Amino acid sequence: MIIQSAKPCLDEADRAAILRVFDAGLIAEGGDIERFEVELAAFLRMPGAVAVSSGFAALHLALKALEVGCGDEVIIPCVSTCPALRNAVWAAGATPVYADINRNDFNLSIDSVGTAMTPRTRAIIAPHHTGIPADIPGLIALKIPVIEDCAQAIGASWRGRPVGSFGTASVFSFYATKLMTSVDGGAVCSLTPSITERVREFRYYRHRRDGRMRFNYKMQNLHAALGRSQLKKLLQFIERRHAIAHQFLGVFTAAGGDLRQSMHQVDGAVYFKLALRLAPADRDRLLDEAQQRGLPCSTEFDWVAEEPGRYPNAEHLMARIITLPVYPALTDGEVRSLSTMFKESLLAVGAVDSGEA
Ligand SMILES: Cc1ncc(COP(=O)(O)O)c(C=O)c1O
Repeated sequence: MIIQSAKPCLDEADRAAILRVFDAGLIAEGGDIERFEVELAAFLRMPGAVAVSSGFAALHLALKALEVGCGDEVIIPCVSTCPALRNAVWAAGATPVYADINRNDFNLSIDSVGTAMTPRTRAIIAPHHTGIPADIPGLIALKIPVIEDCAQAIGASWRGRPVGSFGTASVFSFYATKLMTSVDGGAVCSLTPSITERVREFRYYRHRRDGRMRFNYKMQNLHAALGRSQLKKLLQFIERRHAIAHQFLGVFTAAGGDLRQSMHQVDGAVYFKLALRLAPADRDRLLDEAQQRGLPCSTEFDWVAEEPGRYPNAEHLMARIITLPVYPALTDGEVRSLSTMFKESLLAVGAVDSGEA
């Protein structure tokens, strides 16, 4: 039996939502886009949201709305799960500048961001990696606009407030394997109306006569219909992810692991993946053992910065991280099989401590 590392969670309600729009012939434009924006904004407790075609489009438009362009620098993490961040910075004509992450999670280190800042720094892109809320107010205190990247964290909260409600602008991705999906899709929110207005303005080029450059980054009605249907189930999805992660954590602690090796032991986190820290040699052996058994675990992150040696926290974590899939489409049987594979792999490795001094 092959178990995928990620898969969307789709049901009859999603099918009905898509068919409703399909049968009406309203696949590209239609009322579901605006309704999705209203429902998303209500979920996030934000004044508004602008739906777009992808998380990348959301990042690019947020940078444009903040008037980031040629000659400007944008700080992003030196490691990421997705090249979208630096590509969006390049698309805006700016230069990505890399900062280290924290020692215990993959979110930006505020100290390292402070060191990376120059007079040309115009924005910081701060992802809540793997669903762990980043300290956005701490970054905002540096007095540079912060784009809060919630691609892996919609539904998470920080000190009781939804992630996505802190940044100068916040961006979301609804790609097929994210916490909820609209096939491909994204959104931008902000507490500052002029920022969301600019995003809306740049999103599409038709019916404009002022000769300004714009994009085709709008969300399709068919996608918005699916997004609306998925948003209704998001909290259930998050609960299911939590339950699966806790099943795997039970296996991990029974094999001698410590809960503190899970990166998710912070308030408000959601499980995009279950991320664990192990001593480097154990991590490598566990990856090997797991892969031999068909357990789709991974190291998840890649270097984005060209000079890894300059980022000690990232180097530390990149040698230690292992992630397990916890997506809600996993059946109970698949979760049982994964638990067995995980248990056998852990037993084959022996020690599973974090290797911290
Ligand atoms: C943290 C982060 N930001 C942005 C993106 C880009 O989103 P999309 O794939 O919808 O363009 C991703 C996608 O994987 C992501 O993980």
